[in-house]
Amino acid sequence: MDKNYLKPMLKEDSLKDKVVVITGGGTGLGKAMGQYFLELGAVLVITSRKIEVLEKTAAELQEKTKGIVLPIKCDVSDYKDVEQLLATTVERFGKVDVLVNNAAGNFISPTERLSNRAFDIIVNIVLKGTYNCSLAFGKHWISKKQNATVLNIVTTYAWTGSAYVVPSACAKAGVLALTRSLAVEWAKYGIRFNAIAPGPFPTKGAWSRLLPGDLMKKFDFTQKVPLKRVGEHQELSNLAAYLISDYSAYINGEVITIDGAEWLKGAGQFNMLEAVSDEMWDEIEKSIRNVSSTQK
Ligand code: HXC
Ligand code: NAP
Repeated sequence: MDKNYLKPMLKEDSLKDKVVVITGGGTGLGKAMGQYFLELGAVLVITSRKIEVLEKTAAELQEKTKGIVLPIKCDVSDYKDVEQLLATTVERFGKVDVLVNNAAGNFISPTERLSNRAFDIIVNIVLKGTYNCSLAFGKHWISKKQNATVLNIVTTYAWTGSAYVVPSACAKAGVLALTRSLAVEWAKYGIRFNAIAPGPFPTKGAWSRLLPGDLMKKFDFTQKVPLKRVGEHQELSNLAAYLISDYSAYINGEVITIDGAEWLKGAGQFNMLEAVSDEMWDEIEKSIRNVSSTQK
């Protein structure tokens, strides 16, 4: 099959001169999206708690794309930090057009082993971080009468829930509710809210905390996904770039899943029949036809 999904999708200059802030933009998916936004002409602000990581990423992305990247240290769970992030961005670039709430914290654990502080830390990064940034940036855009776009990164267990990542599931569900709520409430100000729910996209941050040690071999995601592969960063970046661009101007309050049908495979009651061979199907068909004919 032609792997077009590995290629950049949007027209050159699709994000020209848009000022985009990505939380958690120094690593993983945030970094991948940032690189593509730069290639499309955006000016980028990346933020997280570790300034050394951000500075390294900023230098690397500037070198690769010749674009402008400003690294700003900010703990999204601290509203004062978020206000400072906004102020520094506006001071430097005169405006901000797009917020990508991508920062997250997560690790697998039986819930009864968690301290209340461990629960708090995840919810504070994911849900509080997202509402802190959305509130601060939203107030700014409303006061400036400026159109803007917010993209939230959630997961498919935002609606299914998931054992062993309960704080993350609670927080992502909250982020999804915020997305749908503010898409309606702030549409009158020209502010759009959308979300992406990625399936498995390998990153060091996620894999080291969700599939440590032997778990990676035991729970091979390529076998769990009906399309028999994990996601590629470019295909996620293509979707994200579209959703923050003006091409998606009529899409608001939507969550787009990009997971090769992973979550649906877990949901459909008879999906386990994939394990049935052709020979077994011959027998099964015979026996069903038999029952049907005896009941006529
Ligand atoms: C039980 C744990 C724990 C573990 C930490 N804690 N790890 N409890 N099992 N494995 C507890 C600590 O003991 C402490 O509670 C509390 O959690 C806070 O831990 P700290 O280490 O002090 O916090 P901090 O240094 O701020 O680190 C936060 C973190 C860390 C979330 C724990 O993992 C982090 O920085 N993560 C950021 C990046 C990340 O998580 N990326 C993955 C996103 S993947 P006590 O009570 O002892 O003080 C993702 C994908 C979803 O979201 C879907 C995939 C398909
Ligand atoms: P990642 O590389 O670990 O990214 C998480 C980022 O969040 C890090 O850069 C981290 O930087 C930052 N962060 C954590 N706490 C923060 C805080 N308090 N303030 C500011 N920044 C903070 O993991 P990833 O896989 O790329 O995940 C990116 C997003 O995709 C997350 O929302 C995740 O839930 C979502 N997602 C990922 C997958 C996947 O398969 N990878 C699947 C579904 C959803 P610092 O440590 O420097 O703060």
